[in-house]
Amino acid sequence: MKNISSKILSVEDARYFAKKRVPAGIYQMFEAGSGSNVTAEDNVKAFEAVRFRPRNAVFHPEYDISTTVLGHKISMPAIVSSVGFLATGHIDGEAGVARAAGKAGTIQFVSGVTGTPIEKIMEAATGPVFYQLYYIGGRDASAPIIERVKKAGVSGLILTVDTPTIARPRDLPYTMRRSVPYTVNFKEAIKFIPQIWNKPAWTWDFIKAGLPEPEVSMGLRPDGTAMSLFEGIAEIYKETPKWEDIPWVRKHWDGPLIIKGILTAADAKRAVEMGADAIVVSNHGGNVLDGSVSTLPVLTEIVEAVGDKIEVLVDSGVRRGTDVLKAVALGAKAVLLGRAYLYPLLAAGEQGVSHILDLFHQQIYEGLAFLGAQSIDDLDPSYVELPAHWRQPKESRVLEAVS
Ligand SMILES: Cc1cc2nc3c(=O)[nH]c(=O)nc-3n(C[C@H](O)[C@H](O)[C@H](O)COP(=O)(O)O)c2cc1C
Repeated sequence: MKNISSKILSVEDARYFAKKRVPAGIYQMFEAGSGSNVTAEDNVKAFEAVRFRPRNAVFHPEYDISTTVLGHKISMPAIVSSVGFLATGHIDGEAGVARAAGKAGTIQFVSGVTGTPIEKIMEAATGPVFYQLYYIGGRDASAPIIERVKKAGVSGLILTVDTPTIARPRDLPYTMRRSVPYTVNFKEAIKFIPQIWNKPAWTWDFIKAGLPEPEVSMGLRPDGTAMSLFEGIAEIYKETPKWEDIPWVRKHWDGPLIIKGILTAADAKRAVEMGADAIVVSNHGGNVLDGSVSTLPVLTEIVEAVGDKIEVLVDSGVRRGTDVLKAVALGAKAVLLGRAYLYPLLAAGEQGVSHILDLFHQQIYEGLAFLGAQSIDDLDPSYVELPAHWRQPKESRVLEAVS
């Protein structure tokens, strides 16, 4: 059968096909957002609100969209972000994403609540893999996990610091809400039938794979067995990383350390003081505190505060290649893709992820040509115009003064 990815021209197309392929409860879990979905929607609008100021009558025979993140040369300033339980959305899961990210020449961040053991992901990976530590079980349980990912060959560690309590999915109307199965057994299967009877492709994949139980392969029970998905999620919120834990992590991990979930210049400075090598300006794709600021309006203050000391990455709301160019023009070293690759994964597995990464590559390349810049490194805030009520970057104020 022809893979659906040939029909995908945008993240929105992928979302349409994802919704068609996976059971409603699973789709809702991945689409998520929180509260009234204000922040998740604002994230996309914030990227749309930024406008370009291209330099015209410029042509270069070739454009260079490659960059370097924490010492790794990547083909474009877009990284595949950590999203939990990918293997429940498509059987290709984290290993399929690893292959697609490697093929696209970029980095994969692997979630701390992955359903695939890190060793299996590393076997599939051809590019750098960074591991996101959720701190399940606090320091005692994290020390062996850090050792394990080090041994597996992970190139960087990410600490996500914006989930001190449960991240609940948004308030869908009662009549639309669908559950996900808690475990794989006959009773759950019966309850799940109304959701799967018209999703044969997803269902058949899981039957063929022997109905794998969703588990948190990196969260272990005292007897050494892997926690179930729901045990793992409950454990995340018993202990989450605090500033005082970062020096402890630093002692156990001497590679690149990234703090993900920064929204203020003050926290960004603190991350620098604590020894981070990079931060991700992120509101978790609008999945945590609804009503939080979007990331793009605060990027300028954060880049001005710490951009000369560490690498600043940004995510939440990136949906096309031109969004990547906007973030880079405002000082981000690269963006992280969340739903932008998640929907293609649900829709078409590894091939869908490869397809969307190719599309991003093409959109970034063409966008750079339209901007009249030869290299991604040439971009600066003078290439964009921000809404008047946002903090204005210093360079664009200069531009206004001379024009
Ligand atoms: C369903 C879902 C699960 C996620 N799981 C994790 C996770 O396990 N760890 C993490 O650091 N971030 C997680 N994130 C956040 C993403 O890494 C990323 O910050 C976010 O998706 C970016 O926003 P976007 O989806 O609008 O691009 C998750 C996001 C989604 C949508």
